[in-house]
Amino acid sequence: MSELHNNPPSAESAWFLRRLPDMDEAQFKQWQALLEHRTGMALPAERRSFLETNLGIRMREIGCGSYQAYYETIVSGPDAIREWSTLVDRLTVQETRFFRDPDAFRLVADYVVTRPREQFRKRPIEAWSVGCSTGEEPYTLAMVLNECMGQLDLQPLYGVTGSDISTPVIEKARIGQFSARKLLGMEENMKTRYFRPAERNTVEIIDSIRERVCFTRLNVLDLDKAPMHG
Ligand SMILES: C[S@@+](CC[C@H](N)C(=O)[O-])C[C@H]1O[C@@H](n2cnc3c(N)ncnc32)[C@H](O)[C@@H]1O
Repeated sequence: MSELHNNPPSAESAWFLRRLPDMDEAQFKQWQALLEHRTGMALPAERRSFLETNLGIRMREIGCGSYQAYYETIVSGPDAIREWSTLVDRLTVQETRFFRDPDAFRLVADYVVTRPREQFRKRPIEAWSVGCSTGEEPYTLAMVLNECMGQLDLQPLYGVTGSDISTPVIEKARIGQFSARKLLGMEENMKTRYFRPAERNTVEIIDSIRERVCFTRLNVLDLDKAPMHG
């Protein structure tokens, strides 16, 4: 039996059981400003407990006992870049679904099928899902564009880019494997044409769609730091 089971943790070693101090107003403002500046995430006062809970979980994981010390770790610690990336992943809302916003996809399809076909022979369509989470949106875009190309009787000349600030979601998106539950509600013919069964009650996107979609980690706020042409 391990020592952990026989001996209750000492006061010093039980820091992880201690309640973190409440976040004071100045600290909340500091975190608010950092998150808004670096990610564009606006955190209103009502979301203070969300911030406290999520910072608290991460601080316990790495053994950090105060919001201020954690702030220093994030802005100037030796592992600041990696820790920031982990924190961003915890704080961002990554909810997504295939065809999550049907009107938006209908708009894309209408736009494409009402253009002159010649346009697409000369120049492939490029679509971009800016905060793509685990990939459902860019893969949906690829399916929609594939359907449009079929309708126009054109070769599938299109490409989709998915980008997100969170590295773990981009890694999942690249794999292109989803729980079978994710397809609930999708039209049967879309399911059978674009997915195939994979291991342990999962499905994967077929290769001809997957190879049209590429993923990159990107903070959309960094785009204005890119050099301008001209
Ligand atoms: C709610 S999900 C939406 C996913 C997908 N667009 C959809 O509608 O199904 C929002 C995504 O935006 C990403 N995100 C938030 N801030 C971002 C930023 N500054 N740059 C890039 N991605 C960001 C989050 O990581 C998250 O995965």
